Amino acid sequence: IRVAVVFGGRSSEHEISCVTAGSVLSVIDTDRYEIVPIGITRDGRWVLTSGESEQLAIRDGQLPSVDGAGSTLALPFDSATDLMVVEPDQVPRRVGKVDVVLPLLHGPFGEDGTIQGLFEMMGARYAGAGVFASAASMDKIFMKALLTGNGIRTGAYVPITEREWQRERKRVLDDIAELGGTLFVKPARAGSSVGISKVADAADTDTVIAAIEAAREHDPKVIAEAAIVGREIECGVLESMDGGLPDVSLPAEIHVADGFDFYDFEAKYLSTSSLTIPAELPEQVIADIRALAARTFEVLGCEGLARVDFFYGDDGEIYVNEINTMPGFTPTSAFPQMWQATGVDYPALVDRLIQTAQH
Ligand code: DAL
Ligand code: MG
Repeated sequence: IRVAVVFGGRSSEHEISCVTAGSVLSVIDTDRYEIVPIGITRDGRWVLTSGESEQLAIRDGQLPSVDGAGSTLALPFDSATDLMVVEPDQVPRRVGKVDVVLPLLHGPFGEDGTIQGLFEMMGARYAGAGVFASAASMDKIFMKALLTGNGIRTGAYVPITEREWQRERKRVLDDIAELGGTLFVKPARAGSSVGISKVADAADTDTVIAAIEAAREHDPKVIAEAAIVGREIECGVLESMDGGLPDVSLPAEIHVADGFDFYDFEAKYLSTSSLTIPAELPEQVIADIRALAARTFEVLGCEGLARVDFFYGDDGEIYVNEINTMPGFTPTSAFPQMWQATGVDYPALVDRLIQTAQH
């Protein structure tokens, strides 16, 4: 089976996608799968890379990237997923067909339905969520609307579109002040906490404006969320192999490293933040969280895999914070560790993604 592993990409999570790919490439069974490693540079060029996993790790706090070395691939591949190398002044060279694509991409142009649309047009089989589920899950505003519309509890939030910010700023700031207490202000469509600010007081207008402007550096669409006081819990979800309900891993609890105000980019990837797996919670709460993870996956129409992030509030309620349709597979990421603790080791997990992509 020939597997194209695609990583990097045009989003602010380019580097994390490289680290994810490095982890996957280091465990994938190369006796069973022939790997075609494809990097996408930050400016969107597709290159056939060496795929050496050592090049795709965080070293001394330095994040890896796709530097563009390697042969440029033609895009899109033809409808049979035939890969072609096209260099200026050279005769195009066939790389051949691939059976499955693993788009190990995070964020816009990778996890938001756009590349999934390209794969659909090409007739390629690919791992993970399809066009709509990817798009809906990437956009925190649409995601929350779909969840609450299906009776799934999320925290209170205020959406801030470009138009609202330009034309209705006072009303937006009033709505945000009404959320009260502590806020998280986020780009609506980003990941790995890029562009997120924590604001201690929703009524502190100057700080709220600065947080919105910071989020707008990444996305013209922003969401202000009321912080939920409680514990941060996550679950991995995998599509069933037999058409049944999705499988859900044991939950993890996140412990943010000392010195961090919240689970931001540095706390996620460059610190001593840690996980307890399984989370130490009452049995019934664990069962409820796992059931809610499966339901969230289904409500959003996900396929393949996802990680659902929760808050177990001090009020005793369970809130869905968000879903990630291509969760990180970095050495500090929860997804592979939760599956390991649930009896699906890392190579088996990658097998499963390739298998579910094939139907
Ligand atoms: N967006 C990052 C990669 C995650 O959810 O793990
Ligand atoms: Mg996310």
